[in-house]
Amino acid sequence: MLDFSREEIHEVLDTAMHMRAEGYGRELPLRGKTLAMIFQKPSLRTRVSFETGMTKLGGHAIYLAPTDISLGKRETTEDIALVLSRYVDIIMARVFGHDIVEDLARYAKVPVINGLSDHEHPCQIMADFQTILERKGKLEGIRACFIGDGNNVANSLMLGAARVGMHMTVITPPGYEPTAAVVSSANDAAASTGSKIAVSNDIAAVSGADVLYTDVWASMGQEAEAAERKNVFEKYRIDAGTFEMADPEAVILHCLPAHYGDEIEYETSRLPNSAIFDQAENRMHAQNALMLHLAG
Ligand code: CP
Ligand code: NVA
Repeated sequence: MLDFSREEIHEVLDTAMHMRAEGYGRELPLRGKTLAMIFQKPSLRTRVSFETGMTKLGGHAIYLAPTDISLGKRETTEDIALVLSRYVDIIMARVFGHDIVEDLARYAKVPVINGLSDHEHPCQIMADFQTILERKGKLEGIRACFIGDGNNVANSLMLGAARVGMHMTVITPPGYEPTAAVVSSANDAAASTGSKIAVSNDIAAVSGADVLYTDVWASMGQEAEAAERKNVFEKYRIDAGTFEMADPEAVILHCLPAHYGDEIEYETSRLPNSAIFDQAENRMHAQNALMLHLAG
């Protein structure tokens, strides 16, 4: 998330909002370009939004399933990056270890987009920022709270918020906070934007929030911990009670997939304040703008 300056983030978001408002027309700015999409984990939104987005921009996307290239088993990450760079114009990768996407970026001769790693989910945050801009008209000074696990989405939100001057409180059960390293990077970035970054174990910290955000309690790769986490995270959810404490105009966000009844109540997710399906749509516009920025 910190690879982009505040200005670059706003530039991409301006293009994304223009695309959503005006449609794609006949321009096809990525005609003849190809995107390789490497997946080590499942996906609905990331795969379909990137593939459809590339089609709308006149380019082509290739889906590489976990078993197609067996990243790190059949071939080294270095060789995959070097070979793909001879064919395609952009690589997007959804991986377990963050080091894999960093290695791809290190060795590739073309831009590499993180489509989610265990550590970060920056494409999601670009779509979320677009959604917040659409609902609130600004990012700077917005008071956002993330409730749940201090995971990849929480990390990218915290770092992105620090970059654009949005205030961010991550509320987790004790022991599930974002790492000290992420909080420290966020605080460093926040120093120049006035963003206030906080971590709390108290759900009452949502009081007066403009944005309420949650995500699954157990991420992809943590399935074995899911049962235990259900008990630990019981209070850390978006429901009528949490919503009541936030600002009455608060926007409700969830990156999806959702586990209704766990981290978010179904009824609360369907309130007019909820923008969860705008977020899903905006994945495509934000990523299209990002691809144009990188390879247009
Ligand atoms: N939000 C998101 O990244 O969804 P997928 O896992 O379905 O791609
Ligand atoms: N934190 C979740 C996000 C899914 C889009 C996961 O990594 O599974």
